[in-house]
Amino acid sequence: MEFSIKSGSPEKQRSACVVVGVFESRKLTLPAELLDKAANGYISDIVRRGDMEGKAGSTLLLHNLPGTLCDRVLLVGLGKEKDFREKEFGNAIRTTVKTLNETGAFDASIFLTELAVKKRSIAWRVRQTAMIALDATYKFDQFKSKKDEVRRPLRKLTLGVERRNELAQSEEALNQGLAIAEGMALAKNLGNLPPNVCHPTYLAEQALVMAKEFNLACEILERPDMEKLGMHSLLSVANGAHQPPKLIVLSHKGAKASEKPLVLVGKGVTFDTGGISLKPSAEMDEMKYDMCGAASVLGVMQAVARMKLAINLTVIIPATENMPGGNATRPGDIVTSMSGQTIEILNTDAEGRLILCDALTYVERFEPDTVIDVATLTGACVVALGGVASGLFANKDSLARELLDAGDESHDRAWHMPLWDDYQELLKSPFADMGNIGGRWGGAITAACFLSRFTKKYDWAHLDIAGTAWKSGADKGATGRPVPLLTHYILQRAGKLN
Ligand code: BES
Ligand code: MN
Ligand code: ZN
Repeated sequence: MEFSIKSGSPEKQRSACVVVGVFESRKLTLPAELLDKAANGYISDIVRRGDMEGKAGSTLLLHNLPGTLCDRVLLVGLGKEKDFREKEFGNAIRTTVKTLNETGAFDASIFLTELAVKKRSIAWRVRQTAMIALDATYKFDQFKSKKDEVRRPLRKLTLGVERRNELAQSEEALNQGLAIAEGMALAKNLGNLPPNVCHPTYLAEQALVMAKEFNLACEILERPDMEKLGMHSLLSVANGAHQPPKLIVLSHKGAKASEKPLVLVGKGVTFDTGGISLKPSAEMDEMKYDMCGAASVLGVMQAVARMKLAINLTVIIPATENMPGGNATRPGDIVTSMSGQTIEILNTDAEGRLILCDALTYVERFEPDTVIDVATLTGACVVALGGVASGLFANKDSLARELLDAGDESHDRAWHMPLWDDYQELLKSPFADMGNIGGRWGGAITAACFLSRFTKKYDWAHLDIAGTAWKSGADKGATGRPVPLLTHYILQRAGKLN
């Protein structure tokens, strides 16, 4: 889909469809009023008769509105004006785009972007509109031999803004929104691919493709490299797999070399059977999504590279399958991590932390300013927060605050969880420096505590996205989260968020 921004009144638009909003209790928004005036009260008539009451989610398509240049006008119900917030704004955009796709209009001008959302700037509204519009039209049908084609899909969307002096910042926000949306689409595609296609080697190839397109530095570490580095914790997870493990390192150098990089680490378990601690078979297919941390950091990298942000960003992905087999790690095995700390592997299904801990030690060589890891780490996090918020842990409160704010700003929210020492005790092992599990309770926290033992040398945050990275059920699929949160965090750091 193509996007553009225009200032000008709705009645003078030549596009195939003009979209304006109506609040509940039949109150026209300003653009709707302008159209109504030009059309001699045509819209207010319809509204008065009760054909469009402004209920959230309702739509009404009008043809050949008198007195205007529009072939079609789409009225979109916005709900109660006093309740109109971020979520309602997003829903209105989603409804609009889905409906437009069914109208037969190739292009549309939407006048929703100028709606007031409390405390949200015009840049915010444009960014969100672009992100949500692309998210709403995302499809993953490359494995269907018969695709259900949209008959006449929407090709071009023009966002109307009220004032000319809003154009410049709207253009920038549009670029940001599109970069984020494309980053999300990449993350969704990688997540949705079946695990026989999207294995560690595939992820490494995709990193190389991105490196080529955006002129990034890319290095792929192979098993012998990892052996030399002493990454025995990571390698222990790969023991049962026939697919070779990879450690992917991808860097965008947008700032001076002296500027310390932000490092993102993404869990890349391309399929998690649980290993010898085998998972139950119900819904095991969903463990193809266990690389969504990796997919999201690749999505963020693509967005950052596309926006050419003046920052140094490195992305690290430990990638492997977690499979059972004659060579697989046994419960009770003890391994020495790259940090030198020994780990008694009590449950081979707690594999995410085992690959992340070595990646988190490896990042020390980049002298990072900040490290954030992203992982579908624990079922316990899904129990705690469901699919609404990602679990956020940090060894520095100001970093946690910045990430929470980025989550609110992008409506890709996280919730701050504790990393108190009291939980560390649960990881005690009688035989090694630590066990890899902490028992039945507080599983998301003990997993984060485990990681914290490897991140003492830098500012670090951990996002547990087990509940937010994909949806189950009828509209099953990867969500592209937390690409919006992380990209907003980076935009904020780069001083580019208006
Ligand atoms: N990939 C899973 C976490 C997961 C489970 C994500 C369900 C989404 C839905 C992870 O590797 C795992 O298996 N974790 C175990 C840890 C336990 C053995 C301590 C879990 O959560 O059950
Ligand atoms: Mn597991
Ligand atoms: Zn896992």
